[in-house]
Amino acid sequence: MLVLGIETSCDETGLALYDTARGLVGHRLYSQVAMHRDYGGVVPELASRDHVQRLVPMARELLDEAGCTAADLQGVAYTSGPGLIGALLTGAAFGRALAFALDVPAIGVHHLEGHLLAPLLEPAPPSPPFVALLVSGGHTQLMLVEAIGRYRLLGDTLDDAAGEAFDKVAKLMGLDYPGGPAVARLARQGRPGAFRFARPMCDRPGLDFSFSGLKTQVLLAYRAHAHDASAPADIAHAFQEAVADTLTIKCRRALQQCAAHTLIVAGGVGANARLREQLGEAAARDGFRLAFPRHEFCTDNGAMIAFAGALRLAAGQHDGAALHVAPRWDLESLAAIA
Ligand code: KG4
Ligand code: ZN
Repeated sequence: MLVLGIETSCDETGLALYDTARGLVGHRLYSQVAMHRDYGGVVPELASRDHVQRLVPMARELLDEAGCTAADLQGVAYTSGPGLIGALLTGAAFGRALAFALDVPAIGVHHLEGHLLAPLLEPAPPSPPFVALLVSGGHTQLMLVEAIGRYRLLGDTLDDAAGEAFDKVAKLMGLDYPGGPAVARLARQGRPGAFRFARPMCDRPGLDFSFSGLKTQVLLAYRAHAHDASAPADIAHAFQEAVADTLTIKCRRALQQCAAHTLIVAGGVGANARLREQLGEAAARDGFRLAFPRHEFCTDNGAMIAFAGALRLAAGQHDGAALHVAPRWDLESLAAIA
């Protein structure tokens, strides 16, 4: 079954073709980062307008590159939440209309299910049950994946998401948006141990996170060392260590609590090299299997939506002709994939 996947939940237009027999056939991504950079964050209305302009030409290019035509499509999957409502509507309306014109089934995909299944696009994918760490700009969650489509929330952030903390730290240091890669680059020049920040909520039981206090510690340190030229890099280093350490501690705790032997990591912060290194060391020490998406599929993309949608469409699930998007949507409420 050949499925077109469409991702427009935020500031990336992602399109991909996934075939349930052949795997990923092709994908295209356009990032609006340069457009939003002047504003220091995503401007929702600009995001929607840009998606509208790119969807049709990108879909044409993708089909051409793969040597297919729209008539070859057997299903369409689009991100229907969570995300920016206007941005979601562009991809959903395009996907829904295309499916209607082609008379093929269409399905709205949960953006986080897409992220969570992205590691399974790689060769020799792990099979459930596994623990999943979802670390993006909007989410920091530990989930138990009992089966594909059956997700149980183990822990969540009480305030800022890990990616949001990276973005805010970057902003206060005057670094470019998006902040994660910029802070990670600066941290490479930092001296280990020059600063140390707390590992929030690690000294008490449970799997929840909190990153807003850490962000405040960074702000205070940054202000107190305003005249020290090496301070920003040292602080970025200590901040990244605190985030990577905290995430690693909670992942180990979740694996132990669930008696699970596999950890998958997904979402934009999953691209962070220091986090990957720390989790890799923990996996070697504790003997669990660790799976990541390839780098380009850590952040938003169409491939993960095509994949998640194809699994559901192939299992006979689809949505009706009415258009639904959900800016907020609980991952635990999804139907299991038969
Ligand atoms: O998953 P994603 O593309 O979008 C959401 O659904 O939120 O994640 C974007 C987030 C941003 O906060 C960005 O700063 C962060 O992921 N990010 C990183 C890195 N690359 C992206 N954070 C830390 N290190 C990175 N290398
Ligand atoms: Zn995302």
